[in-house]
Amino acid sequence: MMKKLGYVLLAATILAGCNTSEDTSAPASTHAHSHEGERYDNPQHMLQENLGEQALTFPPLLTPTSTDGNQIVYELTAQQGNMTFVDGVETATYGYNGNFLGPVLRLEQGQEVTIKLTNDLPEPTTFHWHGLEVAGDARDGGPHAVIEPGVTETIQFTVNQQAATLWYHPHPMGYTAKQVYKGLAGLLYIEDATSKSLHLPNDYAINDFPIILQDRTLLDGELVYEEVANTMSTLGDTVMINGVVNPALTAPKEKVRLRILNGSNALTYYLKFENDMPFQLLATDGGFLQEASELTKLTLGAGERVEILVDLTQVEGNTLALLNNDTVLMPINITGDAKEIQYDKELTTFDVPDEIAQQEPTKSITMEGMTENFLLNGQSFDPDRIDLRQKQGVTEIWEIENIITDEGAMAHPFHIHGTQFLVISVNGKTPDASMQGYKDTITVQPMDKVRIAVRFPEKGIYMFHCHILEHEDVGMMGQIEIY
Ligand code: C2O
Ligand code: CU
Ligand code: CU
Repeated sequence: MMKKLGYVLLAATILAGCNTSEDTSAPASTHAHSHEGERYDNPQHMLQENLGEQALTFPPLLTPTSTDGNQIVYELTAQQGNMTFVDGVETATYGYNGNFLGPVLRLEQGQEVTIKLTNDLPEPTTFHWHGLEVAGDARDGGPHAVIEPGVTETIQFTVNQQAATLWYHPHPMGYTAKQVYKGLAGLLYIEDATSKSLHLPNDYAINDFPIILQDRTLLDGELVYEEVANTMSTLGDTVMINGVVNPALTAPKEKVRLRILNGSNALTYYLKFENDMPFQLLATDGGFLQEASELTKLTLGAGERVEILVDLTQVEGNTLALLNNDTVLMPINITGDAKEIQYDKELTTFDVPDEIAQQEPTKSITMEGMTENFLLNGQSFDPDRIDLRQKQGVTEIWEIENIITDEGAMAHPFHIHGTQFLVISVNGKTPDASMQGYKDTITVQPMDKVRIAVRFPEKGIYMFHCHILEHEDVGMMGQIEIY
């Protein structure tokens, strides 16, 4: 009874969110035109203010099963669990090697990696390495790489990319949204010579904090995807961080690094700090920017990551709130005496040669859908169809356009497997700092046209798709063959 009511209320708030244009959450309708400074967003509804009543906890760092020189072996099991998110109510969850979410896997560039994957769930799953440049066969863990219940498989690959904060999650056709919602997601850190030489904060959970943002709806304290699922976007009223409801982070009075993952099914976050305090953007999905960039806000679509440096010595008083729009996601309680530490602003170097950046696109993809027809290039996913082909190691310019239809339009986070790409332009203009580093997922606002330079280092078949998991599950996906 209560649950039914909760569902109806949630549905009503989502619809209300669609029809009002308060705040920045109004979706576009057919009469809308793209204006500077105006934003057409996913249907959002009110998120509850987090008061910081519980201490933020952090996923454990996974201990390798063995290491030998350049080789490292990990074991990861997808399993059922139980969590108590609110007072005394236990709810069924999924997790990796635990009850909810998964441990952090740490890898180094050049390392030869073996991971033993076990599915202890009562249903099929896959283990997808989001952002990892691996061969597009089973190792990538897309919808083709299903592991049946009770089965263990081993994957092997060599880490061939730069330092980055990546993540892993399931990707079974039609069930990704549910499995992620129930708790399957974890972080994967890659380090390299650059990340070690920069002397950025890197003491895990001391001055280098993983922050996994996920909005959820707890129905009488329970997490039941089926009761809240909404094809348009499954949104929650509660943002949990690292699986903690109402969290507060305690951090030293110095510069701290936050590695933020938008692990939500659908919600796009508009992150900022209290009083618009500036922070430094260090890295995006695929690694460091060329130099740290000072920002006061940033947009983070589902699946995207950023690493930021926040100078807590600049805060007046002892707390600083992390906000989504104007809603508190998490207070940061600052402790100890101020410690001044200097870090390099120059982080790394890369570029796309001009002769490539100025090429006309050789691939174009339209994204559409707001209520039910979620399509790429007007089509729904067909596992028997290869949509695109590209030669291994060759950079091509893709143009991604979010088009408006009779249904309207909403922001779609566009993701490609097996590659880290660079954004050349957004509507013909130089992209914002937050899009100037390597990316594997970009938030494309309605009517925006984004050009990206894409190169696949390995061969195989890869997915590209919208990272709103509900859209992905109903077929807003395509396949590319790299030959
Ligand atoms: Cu994070 Cu195909 O996914
Ligand atoms: Cu991915
Ligand atoms: Cu979408």
